[in-house]
Amino acid sequence: MSAPKPPRFSKDHSVTLRQLVLELYGDVLKRKQTLEDTCARHPTFKRYDPSDRGFVMLRMKTLFRYRGAFMAMLRDFSPKKIEHEDVLHLALTEILCLGTPVYAAAQWAKSVTKPYAQSYVHALIQRAVRLGPDWRDLYAVPERIMPSWLYQRLQQQYAQEILCAMTRVGLQTPPLDITFAGQGGVGEEGHLALVPWSYRYAEPPVVTAMTGYDQGLWWVQDVAASFPVMALGDVQGKAVLDMGAAPGGKTMQLASRGAKVTALDYALDRIKILKDNLARTGLPVEVVVADARTWSPTALFDAVLLDAPCSATGTLRRHPELPWIRDDGHLGALRVTQEALLHRALNAVSVGGRVVYAVCSLLKEEGEDVVQAVLRARSDCLLRPITNQDTMIPDFALKDGYLQTNPSDWAEAGGMDGFFAACLVKTS
Ligand SMILES: C[S@@+](CC[C@H](N)C(=O)[O-])C[C@H]1O[C@@H](n2cnc3c(N)ncnc32)[C@H](O)[C@@H]1O
Repeated sequence: MSAPKPPRFSKDHSVTLRQLVLELYGDVLKRKQTLEDTCARHPTFKRYDPSDRGFVMLRMKTLFRYRGAFMAMLRDFSPKKIEHEDVLHLALTEILCLGTPVYAAAQWAKSVTKPYAQSYVHALIQRAVRLGPDWRDLYAVPERIMPSWLYQRLQQQYAQEILCAMTRVGLQTPPLDITFAGQGGVGEEGHLALVPWSYRYAEPPVVTAMTGYDQGLWWVQDVAASFPVMALGDVQGKAVLDMGAAPGGKTMQLASRGAKVTALDYALDRIKILKDNLARTGLPVEVVVADARTWSPTALFDAVLLDAPCSATGTLRRHPELPWIRDDGHLGALRVTQEALLHRALNAVSVGGRVVYAVCSLLKEEGEDVVQAVLRARSDCLLRPITNQDTMIPDFALKDGYLQTNPSDWAEAGGMDGFFAACLVKTS
């Protein structure tokens, strides 16, 4: 028997869906859990129609993208603690970002507000509306859109104009990029190609209906996420350990480039996705489920790719909730893991072999600082500057011998994820 449909609590189904948005918004913030995990654990979310889920997800992502702006705006409007702040955030999302008529959003806000607060909530909405289009110049700016722990760190590392450009890209829905298993592309019309192995669709068709999906000729992967594998150079015939492999974008890239890949990860739910991806693409890979901090290989590898767990601050347009559920303490814990994993990766490679350390982070603390700390701690490896001679990585992504992209690179075509990678060579 199929699972029952979620109940329709109201004559107007959108009221029920907006209630669900508020519930999920609160859950993400209270449990400090990603949007994806929150939706997966919600008792009824999965049972809604795809179009209802789309309605909810559009609002959730937009809410988190603009949360900092709305918090700053409401703080300016009222120095006192604001009741029903979540309702106001959603009403402002509807009106200022999604084009919902003011009367409709205000009426919805009134219907979910306690009677004594209704006129106050209404007045705040009207005040925001009176700002007109200028609200973006005032509030959709880096110092207000990001939580202070993140803004303060980024501000020390990036010029204000880059932060502004990153913020503009971060507020957009990202395009779809696909990476090909072979050379040359098989895909739908209307793509852009920044590099020969990847196509971009500004207005993507349904992924599973696209040419070549069923045959496993490509997989979804942001173009910047395809660069770290290229930093290993030619991997044809080499034994390569992919440490932190799931869900497998880079594993498939390595295998399709002719490497004999061992894919290692400890997260069973993510390993399942990796195995599904390998089944669809038919790429031969040995999968190991283990904790990389304690696992030792039986033989050394020719090369290692370590795609380490990180703050994922380079992927905020895809995961806009992350800065609101992370903080400095989280970064400190990640740093310990990143250094431990990089030591393990270096222990697993043979002399002369390359280790590429990668993170989808914009923060130096998780990139260059980790690499420099590990280099200081050992005498058996050296930094090997990444150039485009044997990697085919475009010039704009290479700085000071490192791979570094940020969301405003290729901004005119929709930007890209922020990635950092360094290449080390084992010398003894
Ligand atoms: C950035 S994600 C990897 C993304 C993947 N390389 C791709 O391209 O699809 C980092 C991965 O490291 C894994 N991980 C984190 N700590 C680990 C550990 N101690 N041992 C094994 N895997 C770990 C996580 O489960 C996660 O899948």
